[in-house]
Amino acid sequence: MAIGESHPAFEEAVAGTGERHPMGRRGAAAVVLAAALVAAALALPAAATGSPAEGLQPLSKIALHKATVDLHDSAYVRATPALLGEQGEDTEWVTVKYGWATPSVDDWIAVFSPADFISGTCPNPSRYPDEPLLCTAPIKYQYANYSANYMYWGKGSIRFQLINQRYDFSFALFTGGLEKPKLVAVSTPISFKNPKSPVYPRLAQGKSYEEMTVTWTSGYDISEAYPFVEWGMVVGGGAPTRTAAGTLTFSRGSMCGEPARTVGWREPGFIHTAFMRDLWPNKEYYYKIGHELSDGSVVWGKAYSFRAPPSPGQNSLQRIIVFGDMGKAERDGSNEFANYQPGSLNTTDRLIEDLDNYDIVFHIGDMAYANGYISQWDQFTAQVAPISAKKPYMIASGNHERDWPNSGGFFDVEDSGGECGVLAETMYYYPAENRANFWYKVDYGMFRFCVADSEHDWREGTEQYKFIEQCLSTVDRKHQPWLVFAAHRVLGYSSDSWYAAQGTFEEPEGRESLQKLWQKYRVDIAFFGHVHNYERTCPLYQSQCVTGERSRYSGTMNGTIFVVAGGGGSHLSSYTTAIPKWSIFRDHDYGFVKLTAFNQSSLLFEYKKSSDGRVYDSFTVDRDYRDVLSCVHDSCFPTTLAT
Ligand SMILES: [Fe+2]
Repeated sequence: MAIGESHPAFEEAVAGTGERHPMGRRGAAAVVLAAALVAAALALPAAATGSPAEGLQPLSKIALHKATVDLHDSAYVRATPALLGEQGEDTEWVTVKYGWATPSVDDWIAVFSPADFISGTCPNPSRYPDEPLLCTAPIKYQYANYSANYMYWGKGSIRFQLINQRYDFSFALFTGGLEKPKLVAVSTPISFKNPKSPVYPRLAQGKSYEEMTVTWTSGYDISEAYPFVEWGMVVGGGAPTRTAAGTLTFSRGSMCGEPARTVGWREPGFIHTAFMRDLWPNKEYYYKIGHELSDGSVVWGKAYSFRAPPSPGQNSLQRIIVFGDMGKAERDGSNEFANYQPGSLNTTDRLIEDLDNYDIVFHIGDMAYANGYISQWDQFTAQVAPISAKKPYMIASGNHERDWPNSGGFFDVEDSGGECGVLAETMYYYPAENRANFWYKVDYGMFRFCVADSEHDWREGTEQYKFIEQCLSTVDRKHQPWLVFAAHRVLGYSSDSWYAAQGTFEEPEGRESLQKLWQKYRVDIAFFGHVHNYERTCPLYQSQCVTGERSRYSGTMNGTIFVVAGGGGSHLSSYTTAIPKWSIFRDHDYGFVKLTAFNQSSLLFEYKKSSDGRVYDSFTVDRDYRDVLSCVHDSCFPTTLAT
């Protein structure tokens, strides 16, 4: 369907709301469309990128190609301490003092890593013909007058939080704002004691429930040190096991375009993944990542523990977190004036506080929003490490991970900043047959999750469609009754104004292709992100609510509930003014969803705000196996009149 063409379901839903509207159905539709057009006009920069809500990556605001150098005797930048991580810390706060004779409001302090950021040769001479001062972006920056009285005294002091990302750091004072950067002073380098340390472990469930994987980042190639995980059962497991890890990396040449291939490029280090196999369901395990050097000594990471997944169909308390579009943010306040992902730290902190009360996390796309600035992936993995080191952290592919023109994706837009999926597909493990095809299933006790890849073609006849049907059709619902579909873009229902501006409530050809599968195989809940807000529908069949009930569902299973949970952290997007009749609850705020299966008959759904962790929307599902078997709509099996 062409953009701008009105979708039949859109007309239908608006017609439904029209019954309550004093202007009648046509009037209400006109109001909605007018509101949508206004919203579309306001959101033009976002629409141009193919997404409902976009911030500008703060690092992209720096006109690096215009940078000049003009070092001043009066100018200085000093950072302390010079040595970080003396006790093995992978995160440290440093104090940066700076000053000079002619301060201005748009002076700024850049954090560079590696410390030697001045280069005479840039990788793309057609874009940078004059061999400028800077060929690489800083990892972050802060305005100098963030420090009180900088304009009065001409000197200031800022605290930066640094994470261990394999190289040393330097701090540079620029004048001329971000548009005409002029370097006036640089600090001497500072460094972590061991920049190559193994850091930021992330667990993920493997291809079966008996397998947990751990992925981490280090500066050690396999030729220098051998990566492994040491692990075992916490109680009664005997001697620890050492399992070797595989090692991956990638080069600038594997990026698809700018800025990932140019100013955003940064050496990614080495990404290691080890598989801990033959786990006993629900047992507690410890693990510790490490690298064995040639002299036999070991460089260790920190020790953590996790609980092994339940076996498929196992009846025990199982709690799942789902959200999308979280992004990252800096705890030191740097980059924040860009207001890039204002809810990110709140969401992360609520999940860290609540670690004892859930079992597995699904972050369904748009993770770091690095957009081609590779350093930001280290910072994202560091931000979520307190969660991912202890809980399986399952991801989906979003437009900000994957999309790039002419790269085999379904959307020919530049949202990944040239990463074209390489970072997400390397930095995290997920149990896909081919990591470039980001679809997979997860059996977690009484749940089955079918995770789809909305950045690749899902339509009937494609490999992905076959996978989705296979995933949905092979689950044994008497033991795994809770069937969940998830994808990044909204393939189901959202009353976000961006979709409405296109005369629809979904991505083109989303549910047109998949609805029959959700209906035939009776998916309980379909989750989406991409739209940065929260919305929950009634149980739907052919775009119609199958019940007037809003929060306590029971009996025959005859509709799928669609949930947008894209308020993880990136700035919020707005709704249509008229509310479609299938839309039960909308919240224009940051938050995440928690599913709790108490047993095969009882499921609790909760939506929590990231600001306070409290529940703002919820529903329950109570039903028995016969309620899934019983004949409804097109999931009926043929029967005979013979007895
Ligand atoms: Fe997205």
